[in-house]
Amino acid sequence: MVFFGTFMNSIELIAPDDWHIHLRDDAALRVTVPHAARQFARAIVMPNLKPPVTTAAQARAYAERILAHVPAGVDFQPLMTLYLTDKTSAQDIQDAVNDGWVKAVKLYPAGATTNSDAGVTDLARCAVALEKMQDLGLPLLVHGEVTDAQIDIFDREAVFIERVLKPLRAQYPRLKIVMEHITTAQAAEYVAQADAYTAATITAHHLLYNRNAMLVGGVRPHYYCLPILKRESHRQALLKAAISDSGKFFLGTDSAPHAQDTKETACGCAGCYTASHALELYATAFASVNALDKLEAFASINGAKFYGLSVNTHTVRLNASPQTLPSAFDYLDGAQLVPLNAGETLAWTFQEALDR
Ligand code: NCD
Ligand code: ZN
Repeated sequence: MVFFGTFMNSIELIAPDDWHIHLRDDAALRVTVPHAARQFARAIVMPNLKPPVTTAAQARAYAERILAHVPAGVDFQPLMTLYLTDKTSAQDIQDAVNDGWVKAVKLYPAGATTNSDAGVTDLARCAVALEKMQDLGLPLLVHGEVTDAQIDIFDREAVFIERVLKPLRAQYPRLKIVMEHITTAQAAEYVAQADAYTAATITAHHLLYNRNAMLVGGVRPHYYCLPILKRESHRQALLKAAISDSGKFFLGTDSAPHAQDTKETACGCAGCYTASHALELYATAFASVNALDKLEAFASINGAKFYGLSVNTHTVRLNASPQTLPSAFDYLDGAQLVPLNAGETLAWTFQEALDR
């Protein structure tokens, strides 16, 4: 990582990867893929389509649809995931590894979030798949929230660790597990203390905002995502984890596009769209604690190491020059996509690959 200028007006880092993104499908890819491909060399693409991506053949076809939208001259590799269901077989896992496109399997507890109706109802039903994944070294990516109606939405992640994650870890001691988009001090601590088979992604919005951003002065639907923003002490714990030298925490935007009318409504969808300005947001968060020197490990090294992939060979730059974000992007059928921080001015501007 290289710093330029006495007042640090530019930083150069190894090209980053996004270890958790939602690109959606079909016409949405026209918007989401160029945004992701501009900032990231690779991205772990979530499988929560309708219907979900459950086989290697579906993952490969989806990867090809994504690649068709990568702008000419840009190198972007989608790393595909399978959606774990009660019916995923050992053969499905073997096929996924043989096929080469699939790099992980995603666990959505049934009903936990957007398009998760086909999710797992009972992890005991997934034993053969999980054993095969452990044997083959294929990571399990976990949406770590219980769906029990009795549990308060702000407690669902902490309860998940006790009820689901700890027993899962005990049963599969060598299964690679990524706790996705962690939002609590409990998750940060669990992962920091876990062994080398456990890691976590952290979004930019959970590093930058607490729940006040969503709820004070009016309900702000563009800050509503799952897991939901928590109180300030949790944000502080996440920042500490992100800048730590543990190597277990890495970048995952959880950029999750929803058309404006489905967010700004009486029952709005969960998801923040950040793919268009993700690195700028992460730089803002790291700079807020004087830890820009830790950004490269978090964004460009730790994730690749955990997945057993090499780090990227080219570099990108973040310039300390302000930019104002658009109020919206054209999205589907005339609908708009409102990014997080729409119309706001950010202190940083991302500059594409220098030496591709
Ligand atoms: C995601 C989505 O919209 O697909 N939403 C979100 O709030 N993060 C689903 C998810 O990752 O939970
Ligand atoms: Zn997600």
